[in-house]
Amino acid sequence: MSNAASIGDLAKRARWRIPGFAFGFLDGGSGEEDGLRRNRDRLEAVILAPKACTGAKPDTTATLFGRDYRLPFGAAPVGMGNLLWPGADLMVARQAARLGFPVVASTVATTALEDIAKAADGNAWFQLYVSREERINRDLLARAWAAGIRELVVTVDVPVAGDRRRDLRNRFVLPFKPGARFVAQLAMAPFWALSTLKHGSPGFPNLARYVGEVDGKTLAGFISSQIKDDLTWDDLKSLRDQWQGRMLVKGIMTASDAKTALGLGADGIWVSNHGGRQLDSAPAAIDSLSAIRAALGPDPVVVMDGGIRSGEDVVRAGATGADFVFCGRAFYYGAAAAGEAGAARAADLLAADLKRTLIQIGCPSWSVLDDGWLWR
Ligand SMILES: Cc1cc2nc3c(=O)[nH]c(=O)nc-3n(C[C@H](O)[C@H](O)[C@H](O)COP(=O)(O)O)c2cc1C
Repeated sequence: MSNAASIGDLAKRARWRIPGFAFGFLDGGSGEEDGLRRNRDRLEAVILAPKACTGAKPDTTATLFGRDYRLPFGAAPVGMGNLLWPGADLMVARQAARLGFPVVASTVATTALEDIAKAADGNAWFQLYVSREERINRDLLARAWAAGIRELVVTVDVPVAGDRRRDLRNRFVLPFKPGARFVAQLAMAPFWALSTLKHGSPGFPNLARYVGEVDGKTLAGFISSQIKDDLTWDDLKSLRDQWQGRMLVKGIMTASDAKTALGLGADGIWVSNHGGRQLDSAPAAIDSLSAIRAALGPDPVVVMDGGIRSGEDVVRAGATGADFVFCGRAFYYGAAAAGEAGAARAADLLAADLKRTLIQIGCPSWSVLDDGWLWR
């Protein structure tokens, strides 16, 4: 694995190692995937202006909500992660513990939030898809708190599921009916098939307890019917009042929504278009970040994700105004490409590239990186 030179290399390996429907689920976006491409195109258009002869030996520590993380990037919430490789969620969580960055456990993770929290050794956050049922929200928050989690991320950009055409083409939709194409894709991915057979097909342990004894298919149906599709700012306010820790709102794309979220007591804004998986015509995450930072000024905590594939991208986002940066697909390309070693390789590649880029632009620390390093 050590010869994978980039996240892109890991993605290429993942493509042949796991079945087409699983890769399509990870790699794909919504609609014509314009938003997915736009995230990358606009990030690549961010040009950095290096400062020479600074002798900088960069400090990559990022302080967020009173905590020092050794790196300024983390793992975004990813649902169905163990579909990409059995045990992938914990492989990613262990990287968070090893390198000192946060990992966000999804409501629809295929690993219990308590197990992710344990593996992440104090670095786990929890992402909530707000349920229609109050009792479920309350219980999930209580469980996250009991597991030692203090950062809550509430995702607001799924009022309806995105139009994931790769999933449709692969018939990877509910109700799931395995057909000839599914069997053919499994045959092309024997390691994945055997490993998945050994570990059992991934479920939704965070939510399973709320539906009693049901089979996987019914549970998946339960989940899609449970996500609150008529979420309002009042719901966010009530979550704010319930949660004693820090709360971020994820899926914010405009300055006016950012101001509303902060106004009702959010501790931070998570700029995201869900990695191009929801509204296809959404702005590129890096453009929203720039507009939101300009509107809010330097103080409010603004984090971002969307299209990050290298440490250099993390620096681009930092110079554009992000206090912290998250990666969704990158770690899972790694796990899908080579299991634990692949997840570790993804994390190491991002970390090494981040440090190299800070040295190259003559920036002494993440905490002072700002738009002075943007080429204008
Ligand atoms: C396979 C997959 C599953 C995801 N599941 C969730 C989820 O459960 N909750 C959530 O808030 N975001 C989810 N996201 C979005 C990510 O948290 C993140 O916003 C996005 O992946 C960032 O873009 P990137 O993949 O280009 O880094 C998912 C993304 C992917 C690729």
